[in-house]
Order: sequence, then C-alpha cells, then structure tokens
Amino acid sequence: MNVFTISGGRPLEGSLTVHGAKNSVLPILAATVLCPGVTTIQNCPPLSDVTASLSILTHLGCRVTQEGDTVTVDASTLTRQSIPDSLMREMRSSVLFLGAILGRTGRVSLSYPGGCELGPRPIDLHLDALRTLGAEIREGPEGLICEAAQLRGGAVTLPLPSVGATENAILAAVSASGVTTITNAAREPEILDLQRFLCTLGARVCGAGGSVITIQGGLPLHGGTYRVMGDRIVACTHLAAAAAAGGEITLLGVDPVHLVPVTDLFQSAGCQVHSDGKALHLACRGPLHGGATIRTAPYPGFPTDAQAPVMASLCGARGTTLFVETIFQSRYRHVDELIRMGAEIRTEGRVAVLTGVSRLHGAHVRAHDLRGGAALVVAGLGAEGVTTVEGLEHIDRGYFHLEDDLCRLGAEIQRIDKGASDCGVTKEQKTEKA
Ligand code: EPZ
Repeated sequence: MNVFTISGGRPLEGSLTVHGAKNSVLPILAATVLCPGVTTIQNCPPLSDVTASLSILTHLGCRVTQEGDTVTVDASTLTRQSIPDSLMREMRSSVLFLGAILGRTGRVSLSYPGGCELGPRPIDLHLDALRTLGAEIREGPEGLICEAAQLRGGAVTLPLPSVGATENAILAAVSASGVTTITNAAREPEILDLQRFLCTLGARVCGAGGSVITIQGGLPLHGGTYRVMGDRIVACTHLAAAAAAGGEITLLGVDPVHLVPVTDLFQSAGCQVHSDGKALHLACRGPLHGGATIRTAPYPGFPTDAQAPVMASLCGARGTTLFVETIFQSRYRHVDELIRMGAEIRTEGRVAVLTGVSRLHGAHVRAHDLRGGAALVVAGLGAEGVTTVEGLEHIDRGYFHLEDDLCRLGAEIQRIDKGASDCGVTKEQKTEKA
C-alpha cells in the first residue's frame, strides 16, 4: 500500500504551473462521443479519473491514445451504447456520458453511479433535463435505460444549479433538433470550458458562465484540438499548503479570477496575496488568524471542493472559524483525521466550528475522499513532526503527482510503499479496518 510520509514545518518557496482541470476534462472527454471524428485534448492531466474515462471511451468503441497530457479520441464509430457497472462505479462522473451517448446513438443503458463519500449523489436533475428534451427513461435490471429516437430542443429549468446536470443537458441538447435553453444553469468555469470545446467542434452553445445557456442543436460536428483550463481547486490546495507551512509561492496556468473567494479568505487570514492577471502570488509570513465564516456555495461562491484543504490550513489560525457546507450532506470526513493531528473541530450536520491551536502534530491518518485526502497533506505540511497519509487512491483521482509538485516547492514529502502489515497503523485503526 502506498502512503505519503510528510515532514512538516518547512516553508514552501518557488513557482509552479498548475495542471489541467479534472472537472473540465471529464465532461470534455464525455463530449468527444458526440463527434464522429478525431478530437485532441491538451493539458489533460493523467489522473485516475481520466484513465477511468478513457476506459469508458474505449469500451464504447472509440480509439484512444494518451501521450503525457495530450489525449486523442477517435469516436468515428461507436460499437456500444452501454456502460457496465464496473466502469460506472469506478468514477462518479461516468454519469456525464449519459447525455452524449444518448445524443449520438439515441439509446444508452447504464447503472446508477455510486453514491460516493460525500453523501447521496442523486441524478434526478440529470434525468429530468433529458426527459424535457424527449428522452424516455425506464428502470432496467442493470439500472437505467434511456431512449430517444430524436431528441428535440426544449426549455430546461434546473431547480438548483447542478454542475453535472447542466453539463449533461448541454451534451444532449447539442444533438437535439432545435434550440434548447437551460435556466438556472451552474456557472462554474468548467462549464464555460465545455462550451468552448464544443464550439471548437462546430456546435453552437452560448451563455455558459451565466445562469442561462442556449444551444442550437443538430449541427454537424467535426474534429478539433482544445487545451483545457487550469485546475482552480488544485491551485486552492497549493495556496492552502503555503498558508499552512508558511513561505511564498507563485502559481501559473490558472486564472486568478476563478479563485477569488479563496484568495480573499487567505488575505483576510493574514496572507499577502496578489496577481498580475496571469500569475498568482501568496506569501504567509506569520501566524494566520481565523474569525471568518466560510459558507460553501455554487460558483462564484466559495467552492465546496476547497473547503477541506482550507480548513486544514486554518487549524493553526488564531481564533474560531465557522464552516457551513451547503452543497454536500457529508463532507467532513477529514475532520476526525485532523483531530488525530491535534486539531480542535466540532461538527454538527453541515456546520463545523474550528478553534485554532498553536500547532498540529504529525500522526498516521487516512484519506476517505479526494479533497479530504488533500487536506491531510496540507495539515501534514504545517504540522510538527512526521505525518503518514494512507488512501492515496482517493488523492490520485484529482491530483497528478501531488508529491512532486510539493517537493518542487521545498516540501519534504515522499510516496512510499508500506506493506499492508506495516504502515504505522495503530491497534484501533487495525480493528476499524477489520
Ligand atoms: C461537480 O459534481 C464536481 N465534480 C464536484 O467536484 C463538485 O464538488 C460539485 O460539482 C459542486 O461544485 C465534477 O465536476 C466531476 P452537483 P456534481 O450536481 O456535478 C445535488 C471534486 O472534488 N444534486 O453540482 O456531482 C447533489 O447531491 C468533486 O472534484 C441533486 O440533488 O455536483 C449536491 O448536493 C466532488 N440531484 C448538489 O446537487 C442531481 O441530479 C450539487 O451537486 C444532481 C445533483
């Protein structure tokens, strides 16, 4: 079993180019199914979630090549219209293939994506949007069967700005005859990236980034090349690492505008933050102070994906910080692990109250989900002593070689293979595992 070992207390210094955005590349890879040609995606990080998407594309009959951070998909001929449970369960975002396969072939069958560590992950808004565009959806023995001889444009109104439902509706609408409007659409930057990718292929999509998106469907699509935006959540994670460990870092490859709620938070906590439009600089030369109320919200609000890394960075901040997680029902699984490191945090439902301590201490901790795992790395960088983090399969879903990037900034972190028997797991943790 691989673990991270982190020797905390070393300030971070230097600059780093942030890799491509997981939450942009996943819908874009699903969208390649719509195009009966060859598409090339650049700045595509070789993450495990990307690998899972490429497995689905191959299963569908696409010819896929991957060289470093460039992926080429030839979707000229599809040979299947279904995604098996084994592939659906590998990655939550497999549901993003729903609209694209339905739009391209008129039929798709897939099992429900796994409810993941963040609480229930329903897809009712996805299905309602597809029904509005003419899809017939029924429960089959293996899960869902969606059919539509011809999708037709319509007026989709989302009861809440779901990122995935917005993306699925766009992908189905691109193939629908006529015009589709999506009202109360999610405004995340990754959706604007998807729009730009689709327009590169000849689709006509506009309004992404705002709450109303309009798609002129039924246009022929051709191949093309697209470079994915930088990952704003990976950038937030590196900022949190520098805030926790101290030091001064510069991030490139990401749009600073996408991180404003998080950079504002670190500024108010005592960091110096500035950007010149392209590069983002953060310096932390002293103890942080808490006192903020951090309420997660759909973009442009405070991103729920940054909640855990930011919480980890504030464990040593003076004062009390209040977190309200409004997006997901259960997104505090990193709290118990932070408490093992000496953090003082109380949770009640969607609220977490963090009381700063002078310093965390190293411990053996376990990642339960992607961003919670990243939070434990952030905490380890600021802690006194050595922290061991297991559960790297969660972290590798969204961070490509996180340890290499942090080493480049001066952190002391290693990925080592600690056999299952000896990973510093305490007796009670072994019992838990059993
Ligand atoms: C996307 O998930 C991201 N994943 C998540 O990032 C991110 O946390 C989330 O958006 C919110 O920003 C990808 O883009 C691959 P939602 P998604 O639909 O689309 C409820 C990460 O760490 N809901 O906006 O699943 C849902 O339960 C991941 O990178 C319904 O009720 O998020 C949640 O409470 C984690 N019915 C809320 O809406 C539905 O049909 C927001 O979910 C769909 C969603």
